[in-house]
Amino acid sequence: MNIQYHEELKIFKLDTKNTSYVIGVVDEEEFVGHIYYGKKLDEFQVGYLMRTEEAPFVPSKNNRDRTSFYDCFPVEYTGHGVGDFRDSSISVKTKAGHSAVCLTLKSYEIYAGKKKLQGLPATFGEEADCSTLELTLWDKVLNLEVMLSYTAYRELDAIIRSVKVKNCGQESLVLTKIMSMCLDMDQDGYDMITMHGSWARERHVQRKAVGLGKQSVGSVRGESSHQEHPFLALLDDKATQESGNVYGFHFVYSGNFLAQVEVSQFDSLRMMMGIHPTDFAWNLQAGSEFQAPEVVMVYSSEGIGQMSRTYHDLYRNHLIRGSYKDKKRPILINNWEATYFEFDTDKLLNIAREASGLGIEMLVMDDGWFGNRFDDNRALGDWFVNEEKLKGGLKYLVDEVNKLGMKFGIWFEPEMISPDSELYRAHPDWAIAIDGRTPSLCRGQYVLDLTRKEVVDYTFESLRKILTSANIEYVKWDMNRQLTDIGGAFTNADSVGEFYHRYMLGVYELQERLITEFPNLLLENCSGGGARFDPGMLYYSPQIWCSDDTDAIERLAIQEGTAMIYPLSTMGAHVSDCPNHTVGRNTPFETRGHVALAGTFGYELDVTKIPEEDRTMIPEQVSMYHKYNDLVRTGDYYRIASYHENHFYDCYQVVSKDKTECLITFVQVLNRPNYKNRRILIKGLNPEFRYQLEGSELVLKGSTLMHAGIMVEKLWGDFRSKLLYLKVVQ
Ligand code: DGJ
Repeated sequence: MNIQYHEELKIFKLDTKNTSYVIGVVDEEEFVGHIYYGKKLDEFQVGYLMRTEEAPFVPSKNNRDRTSFYDCFPVEYTGHGVGDFRDSSISVKTKAGHSAVCLTLKSYEIYAGKKKLQGLPATFGEEADCSTLELTLWDKVLNLEVMLSYTAYRELDAIIRSVKVKNCGQESLVLTKIMSMCLDMDQDGYDMITMHGSWARERHVQRKAVGLGKQSVGSVRGESSHQEHPFLALLDDKATQESGNVYGFHFVYSGNFLAQVEVSQFDSLRMMMGIHPTDFAWNLQAGSEFQAPEVVMVYSSEGIGQMSRTYHDLYRNHLIRGSYKDKKRPILINNWEATYFEFDTDKLLNIAREASGLGIEMLVMDDGWFGNRFDDNRALGDWFVNEEKLKGGLKYLVDEVNKLGMKFGIWFEPEMISPDSELYRAHPDWAIAIDGRTPSLCRGQYVLDLTRKEVVDYTFESLRKILTSANIEYVKWDMNRQLTDIGGAFTNADSVGEFYHRYMLGVYELQERLITEFPNLLLENCSGGGARFDPGMLYYSPQIWCSDDTDAIERLAIQEGTAMIYPLSTMGAHVSDCPNHTVGRNTPFETRGHVALAGTFGYELDVTKIPEEDRTMIPEQVSMYHKYNDLVRTGDYYRIASYHENHFYDCYQVVSKDKTECLITFVQVLNRPNYKNRRILIKGLNPEFRYQLEGSELVLKGSTLMHAGIMVEKLWGDFRSKLLYLKVVQ
């Protein structure tokens, strides 16, 4: 077992391949404290590291009656309102109105494997993969149990944490805050990495020094959001892609979140992550439980790059499910940027005919095929075919596409309802709204109240009806607005604080039902581009639309941030037409292909209308995808240079697990006069293997390629790119 308890020392030690995480129990009161998280330790005797010393200004030693003990003790999971003035992990409201919680150890259990989290997305692992420690803490006065769960993977430096609360008392209480993890460390001059953005500009990386006090990212938008990402990394201020300590924290959840770092007066650092406490209040009746979502913690002593590769391996093998988990995805062509709402059967079939001849494998019909949907002001919820556009019906279209040897995919926005829709006219009370207040419209639509079973059932049935009506093999699940005006015909003062989380549970239930009933369906999540690109969604769909910005240059920063934590196999990326519809930029078709190759790869254009010279490049791009996708999907990702940082060029590579192949993508964003060919040092090769650079006679040892590098010739013009492929020779 890679988790052990030392009875005498009262120390729990969790080991991954290269990491140890150590927890200690102190005092006869059995406070549970944090001792160590970092490089693997061979022994248990590290209890001396536990910070039980009193704060300097308190004369007595170890006097637990002093608030200072709580305020400086590095706790595994905080209580609330009993003396630790740093932000707390949990708080409650009792019938008497009290919020205090004080937690000490009650019991523990260690077992091989990992249990499922009821109703929530979660990483998984067999007995051979991981072990789990469940530490049950309790507040003796409230008779409240707080079970901290830690799963440590044997071969991956990942520890998964979650929290379950059980009200064992006689009286109901309200849970007003519940973080999924808390980690108290020494503040050793860390930097922090977070991701920020907007629509069409998701997951731009920000790195800055951790300062005194609190700093956080979060979302109160009802989804993980374009704006801030449920991820935070703490790293040595000198850490690079290859060196330094890095601690990553990633929330497996798609709704409101908070990730917060707090540096205290005593130079301790508290990291917390969980459901955002704003507008959260969960009723815990006597005997009932609340399960909080999980956090994936990854530690790397070899820089950011190793953290990325651990996340990639964990998500590829222990989060993503389904028949496409390890499979190459069909190259798709999506008609959104090609036609927007103006399409009909003929137009789609013309696109499909041309596309199939070029080697494209699936047609995806985007928004606009249903109800009265001639623009984005109407018809969401009316999931029946618009026969004015699709003459002959959906089955006819799908059959014709299938006859071309192509698969067929379809777009839905199941969580929404337009005020101008048959659904709204029949069920106005199904939209989220506060009685007496006109709810805010966004993109002309409201959100369905998915906290209600009948709404979830109706939505699922609508999808099921369409999906069983024709041979549909792919669904793009979109979500184009954030949640406001929280309330509804079926929400009252007691339940309104549960709304956001119950909404997410409704979405998760819907997606679980969908992939259970249609196990071979390829599901791609999407939210106005990449507003719900998060590990929660990955549990249901092996790929997520990365961003509505399909410009190859804008995509560099978006894909860099995304690939820092997500495997390339998950990043929805398409080649689109120019001038680009979001930024008006013209880039070479070749560059657009190279950049999309780092993701799922597909097209988002009217292939019957693009310039002939672009069209003729498609078969070449298709064969490039078939040649490299296994490597891109399954290999180890290394970042060489960041355009986001250097404002000049971008470079990244993927090395196969057996180190026999390597693909390097180089994008010269701006050309410069008088600049020379660029020397690139390759990473992650086997130093002893000999590699040939495709298209040249050059055969070099891995060590030479890594230490001395290769030359990338200066390219003529802006926005130019080049692929370099290395393969082992005997
Ligand atoms: C937002 C998505 O990100 C786009 O790709 C497209 O599907 C539109 N919605 C359709 O409304």
